[in-house]
Amino acid sequence: MSAVPIVTGGAGFIGSALVRALLAGGAPRVTVIDNFSSGKHENLVEVADRVDVHEVDIRDFEAIAPLFTAGAMVYHLAAIPSVPRSIADPVPSHEVNIDGTFNVLRAAREAGAKRVVYAASSSAYGDTEVLPKLESMRPAPLSPYAAQKLMGEYYCSVFSSCFSLETVALRFFNVFGPRQDPNSPYSGVLSIFMKCVLAGTAPTLFGDGEQSRDFTYVEDVAGLVIKAATAEGVSGMVFNAGNGNRYTLNETWKLICAIHGVEIAPNYGPPRAGDVRDSQADVTAAVRCLGHAPRFTFEEGLRRTLAWYAESG
Ligand code: UD1
Repeated sequence: MSAVPIVTGGAGFIGSALVRALLAGGAPRVTVIDNFSSGKHENLVEVADRVDVHEVDIRDFEAIAPLFTAGAMVYHLAAIPSVPRSIADPVPSHEVNIDGTFNVLRAAREAGAKRVVYAASSSAYGDTEVLPKLESMRPAPLSPYAAQKLMGEYYCSVFSSCFSLETVALRFFNVFGPRQDPNSPYSGVLSIFMKCVLAGTAPTLFGDGEQSRDFTYVEDVAGLVIKAATAEGVSGMVFNAGNGNRYTLNETWKLICAIHGVEIAPNYGPPRAGDVRDSQADVTAAVRCLGHAPRFTFEEGLRRTLAWYAESG
């Protein structure tokens, strides 16, 4: 029998989608490590009988180490995942995103885990001259968060080369979908757009709204993460986990309004510090080496997401 997979951050928006995908794909049980800072028990409610939830913090090595087992696949998604939060309050972000990642890698290595798949970030690229962004481009982080996530990648690569722990890092590109929490000052922009359109209120776009993102539907990301766990010949490598397209915030808000059948002009505010201007993934390597095959167009993802927010309202 294969070891039970471990998902750090498994009660979060992306982590819980991954847990559901693992169970749907045949895993009999999943171990979740989450400190519930942004994770929620309700995210796992339909699968609660097949999930072993440990409310522990990845900053606490002694607490997490006993949960790692030989041969286990480790999916490391726990993080403080916000650019502006890392600027407003850099210490917790640093501790969770760098020290916590080190602890997870160390625990995985000491237990003899099979592989660690790490949720890296496309923010590592910063502003590149050329789009789409290719893994071979030189990283240029613009925020503490981006630097922290990049350090996590470097640690993954070093654990692979120095300690023979298999690792794969996936640079997530603006993941969106059901269960993304719209209620924090650091919420992802699409969750805020969903909340606004359903309430009939205008969102505030930071800057001119012409910044663009490669919004990627959460189920496509979960699918790719699982593929990265079994792909061969990729240990120590970094791949883009995106959709391959990009939309400006102005276009995106208009599209959401059109799907919902309303017309609401957005407000505009000052640009946000640490913001990347444009983001778009080159997915060639992920397709070739990991079998990446996104199933959801942006519009389909938006429809599904909007339907979920409307129902769970
Ligand atoms: C997002 C993720 C980050 C991930 C990265 C990968 C979140 C919260 N952050 O960062 O974890 O690693 O993508 O690419 O999901 N904006 C507004 N109005 C708002 C909120 C945001 O105009 O009310 C703008 C921001 O200034 C930014 C864009 O929307 O230009 C996206 O912001 P955000 O959703 O916070 O994500 P990223 O910073 O791109």
